Amino acid sequence: MSYGTAEAIARRVRSLPQGLQRHIQRVQDVAAKLAGVHDADEERVRLGAMAHDVARAMNGDELLAHARDMGIPVHPVEAAVPVLLHGPVGAELLRRLHGLEDREVYEAVYWHSTAHKDLGVLGKIVFLADKLDPHKKARYPFIDRVERLAAKSLDRAVAEFLSRELVDLIGQGSLVHPASVEARNRLLLKHG
Ligand SMILES: [Fe+2]
Ligand SMILES: [Fe+2]
Repeated sequence: MSYGTAEAIARRVRSLPQGLQRHIQRVQDVAAKLAGVHDADEERVRLGAMAHDVARAMNGDELLAHARDMGIPVHPVEAAVPVLLHGPVGAELLRRLHGLEDREVYEAVYWHSTAHKDLGVLGKIVFLADKLDPHKKARYPFIDRVERLAAKSLDRAVAEFLSRELVDLIGQGSLVHPASVEARNRLLLKHG
């Protein structure tokens, strides 16, 4: 990853709304701690965390338009809930406009909302750090257990989050993204 890419992404992040920038900073802090615990490359984890919400300020119509323009496959669940496209659109923008070539960072950004069955360590850290933002935790009544698990096993923490989140979404009558179901199945098959 070139210095130019990181600097261009940082500049783009500085143009985002203030509240979103503060969320991104907190996610970077949580992600850096998890990187230390799990022996991951802190610089790349920080880049993924910094980049994860670059498209979060776009509205649904903008996300759908960008997805179509850039040839991102749009699942019917994403067409119905376009906010789910802010990861894919963000990752693709960074690749096309700012030369983001690091595949793991790209996938961490792409799948940070839903998770994905093939996420690596970096992607799991960014996924969890996004949910463990201290200001966002109140949204998830089960987050303390996820946080405790994250200190020991990224896989178990992601599986726990997905299990609880999917139950909540189904309980509310909401759509669920198949990538989340597949990611949870993969983790349960791996760990029993
Ligand atoms: Fe996000
Ligand atoms: Fe986020």
